[in-house]
Amino acid sequence: MSKEYKRTLITSALPYTNGPVHIGHLAGVYVPADIYARYLRLAGRPVTFIGGSDEHGVPITLKARKEGVTPQDIVDRYHALIKKSFEELGISFDIYSRTTSKVHHETASEFFRRLYDKGEFVEKSSEQLYDPEAKQFLADRYVTGECPHCHHPAAYGDQCEACGTSLNATDLINPKSTITGATPELRPTKHWYLPLDKWEPTLRHWILDGHKEWKSNVYGQCKSWLDMGLQPRAVSRDLSWGVPVPVEGAEGKVLYVWFDAPIGYISNTKELLPDTWETWWKDPETRIINFIGKDNIVFHCIVFPSMLMAYGDNFQLPDNVPANEFLNLEGDKISTSRNWAVWLHEYLVDFPGKQDVLRYVLTANAPETKDNDFTWRDFQARNNNELVAILGNFINRVVVLTHKYYNGAVPTPGAYQQVDKDAFAEMDSLRTSLTENLETFHFREALKDAMAFARLGNKYLQDCEPWKVAKTDSERVKTIMYVCAQICASIAIVMEPFMPFMSKRLAAILGDFKLSWSLIARDNVVAPETVLGQPELLFEKIDDEAIKAQTDRLEAIKKQNVVDAFTPAPVAPEIKIDDFARLDLRVGTVIECEAVPKANKLLRFVIDDGTPEKRVIVSGIAEHYKPQQLLGKQVVFIANLAPAKIRGVVSQGMILSALNADGSLVVVGPSAQATPGAQVK
Ligand code: MF3
Ligand code: ZN
Repeated sequence: MSKEYKRTLITSALPYTNGPVHIGHLAGVYVPADIYARYLRLAGRPVTFIGGSDEHGVPITLKARKEGVTPQDIVDRYHALIKKSFEELGISFDIYSRTTSKVHHETASEFFRRLYDKGEFVEKSSEQLYDPEAKQFLADRYVTGECPHCHHPAAYGDQCEACGTSLNATDLINPKSTITGATPELRPTKHWYLPLDKWEPTLRHWILDGHKEWKSNVYGQCKSWLDMGLQPRAVSRDLSWGVPVPVEGAEGKVLYVWFDAPIGYISNTKELLPDTWETWWKDPETRIINFIGKDNIVFHCIVFPSMLMAYGDNFQLPDNVPANEFLNLEGDKISTSRNWAVWLHEYLVDFPGKQDVLRYVLTANAPETKDNDFTWRDFQARNNNELVAILGNFINRVVVLTHKYYNGAVPTPGAYQQVDKDAFAEMDSLRTSLTENLETFHFREALKDAMAFARLGNKYLQDCEPWKVAKTDSERVKTIMYVCAQICASIAIVMEPFMPFMSKRLAAILGDFKLSWSLIARDNVVAPETVLGQPELLFEKIDDEAIKAQTDRLEAIKKQNVVDAFTPAPVAPEIKIDDFARLDLRVGTVIECEAVPKANKLLRFVIDDGTPEKRVIVSGIAEHYKPQQLLGKQVVFIANLAPAKIRGVVSQGMILSALNADGSLVVVGPSAQATPGAQVK
């Protein structure tokens, strides 16, 4: 940070209220934003942390349509759920509002109107996709088709999720309406476009010359956008859900969701600070930081800044946009529609009181420079091996020993030895590294530094061995335990941004001192005579059972998704009844069944087909059935198939089975007992 700023405005992407929040959102945006906000507050730097729901846009109306409720019902439901679960996770927003609020509608409307009045828009009539069955224009997610860039078959009208390109609905090859499935036709309609090309030179200079310190994924995406050349972008849509376009002759048109949503940051600041909000947006001594996921980069670095410049009036551009990559779940892309996610509100129920564990794991494994994977095994391991075994263990040992030796009262130290001075010196250098990492948004590294305080504590205890020294030098033990209390105090501070719940409990155990960044590595933060609280377990082991419940749940979802995605094979070419009559299908009863030696797919059946000879059939279903499972069962077989020799056994027919969506097989049989040898007609 080259310049001294007076205050920091932190924004975190406003989540769409078409579903609950999941770990991908948390790791990408909200946990890092919260760490940063909490750090600045501890450092005594003025900060406002803005959050809120993004309640417009097509995914919400699509969801409402699917459930047969109104868009308002949908946003009310998810806004409440998201707000509550953020609170429970300790995301310390100064405000969490919503884009359906009155303030927001007024602010967004006024913003558009000013640009309109200043002549900042290009008004243009163009041919847009129209669904003749639904009788409406199709924008954004109302239409899917083939991506013109990467040829992914299911790109949306606003973006291809496969290659990340942002699209216009009319770019799609073979577009289809997501409402009715109809092939859209083109109809003329008028819209307002923001000429991004006008701002291109300014954006180039601002980002490419002025912000080389931005994360390389962010800088790189901006550069490639700018190098491709910017085009005017439509900022209105023919939809009914959204902020109405505030000009004459715009009936049935609303602001494009990506026009109104970022203005939500401003509206929410206004709602929180009606008298001083302008200082947070227009004073050059305010520093604006936008926390977002990588799919939001262009909107925050190109589109919204162009809007702010077009508005003028001293609106400040962000100083940094620390966008994260994506978090995957157990090796697969997180997806709301496929229910492939760990949902925050469910986590809070399944792991009560373990908010910090999730915050810790998501930070330790944050997708800061590349996509990362969340696995439940890693979650368990980090809890058990790091939080319990390193952090919880150190604090517990200090508190227990202080109670054992001094009834909990922190002793008065004697003169420091080298090992004591070293402990403080090491904490001091850790503080420098930790602070630097936080300032530069390297939260994974910052968390490692914070954990290093606990590792240092354990090592100090191990080196000093107060339990041995106690037998010979009780004065020395006092110094050791006093130093340990100071290390605990530093831990309470450095962990606060990451794990605020445990930090609060720890500070309470240490006599409830006021946390402040300036107290890290300082002596006498916990004064002699302070009586420590009773030992309590700050973290507890998570057992295999709890983890299995989660992985079982995901397994079941994966299975369900396969079934949901199943499309029956195309029907084979038509046949005549005579063709069918040539097949001799019959029912038989399995009277013997055994594995064929050295052939792991084959079972050898003896079928009672009503003849005295019976019939031997070899079938390739050993991966789906154990021999005894089919004993006594009735099956349908082809009786007139030419015999074939399989692994030395002559097979006289073929047993019919159905192939399921998940690749499993089930043998087909009659619905009630049939006579062996009965023909299937
Ligand atoms: N709702 C958007 C998303 O989830 C983010 C909007 S961020 C804002 O991708 F800037 F528009 F608010
Ligand atoms: Zn594509």
